[in-house]
Amino acid sequence: MTNTPNADLGNEPVTVIGLGLMGTALAAAFLDAGHPTTVWNRTPAKAVELVAQGAVLAPSTADALRASSLVVVCLSDAASVREALAPHRAELVGRTLVNLTSGTSDEARELSTWTGDYLDGAIMAIPGVIGRPEAFLLFSGSPEAFGKHRDSLDRLGSATFFGEDPGLASLYDVALLGVMWGTLNAFLHGAALLGTAKVDATAFAPFANQWVGSVTGFISAYADQIDRGAYPAEDATLETHLGTMKYLVRESAAAGIDTDWPARIQALTERAIDGGHAGTSYASLIEVFRGQA
Ligand SMILES: NC(=O)c1ccc[n+]([C@@H]2O[C@H](COP(=O)([O-])OP(=O)(O)OC[C@H]3O[C@@H](n4cnc5c(N)ncnc54)[C@H](OP(=O)(O)O)[C@@H]3O)[C@@H](O)[C@H]2O)c1
Repeated sequence: MTNTPNADLGNEPVTVIGLGLMGTALAAAFLDAGHPTTVWNRTPAKAVELVAQGAVLAPSTADALRASSLVVVCLSDAASVREALAPHRAELVGRTLVNLTSGTSDEARELSTWTGDYLDGAIMAIPGVIGRPEAFLLFSGSPEAFGKHRDSLDRLGSATFFGEDPGLASLYDVALLGVMWGTLNAFLHGAALLGTAKVDATAFAPFANQWVGSVTGFISAYADQIDRGAYPAEDATLETHLGTMKYLVRESAAAGIDTDWPARIQALTERAIDGGHAGTSYASLIEVFRGQA
């Protein structure tokens, strides 16, 4: 294969390695934005639709790498990135490698040693919204690489850069996923509880969403307290929270639904209170999470 895909519209050529659900959406967004796009996937059949839309299917990983100075990789995990790219490390020299594969911060730091032009990225979106305003992506690693390719990366969703530590985007990723799972678990538990009273989840959802909106305000206020290291109970004390939490555990037990989730919240709160935080705000639970209470 020759190395330069069709140039048009002044957009830089991009290579996308990995055409799973997410990689396919990434490549489609680059194509839609007019980037000459080269793709490679271990299973080439997954490229058929993208090729019909104008992508160039590289016959090998090495050819795919040579095709563009911006290479985006999105595989299952760090092990698959190592397996796919390790034999071709020499081809990475002089190119920017943007790794949008999920992983730990240490894995990102290790991969960053493969090339000076490394960016690690976290995709805070599902494939269906890639390229749309609600998609946002977090990057860290080489500031030069981010500056050089920012316009292209913005095609995927709004791009935020966290600086030189290549592990930081991954750390934000897992922290944000924790927010998602915590919120979803609370919703699912609540839906199970209300379900015992024959309330549909669709009836509960609008109230859950409205309440999550209020909770975003609590997050901002408590973030400020955490950064100041002071937790004045301006809204409610942890002791008041604990009293109400016990109702959630009791209602769950009475309704015969799983009590593990509310019991864990209660146990965390009791540890904070045992650590001397009965009269402080909910934000003081941070001490438990830090292992300090
Ligand atoms: N899907 C989402 O909503 C979402 C959102 C945010 C982040 N992510 C992250 O994006 C990454 C990809 O997710 P996905 O949903 O696209 O997964 P997926 O549909 O399962 O695709 C996995 C991709 O990895 C390739 N692959 C796996 N092992 C490989 C190996 N050893 N060598 C070469 N290629 C290999 C697969 O190739 P084959 O086609 O040949 O199997 C496929 O292209 C994951 O790290 C995921 O956590 C996904």
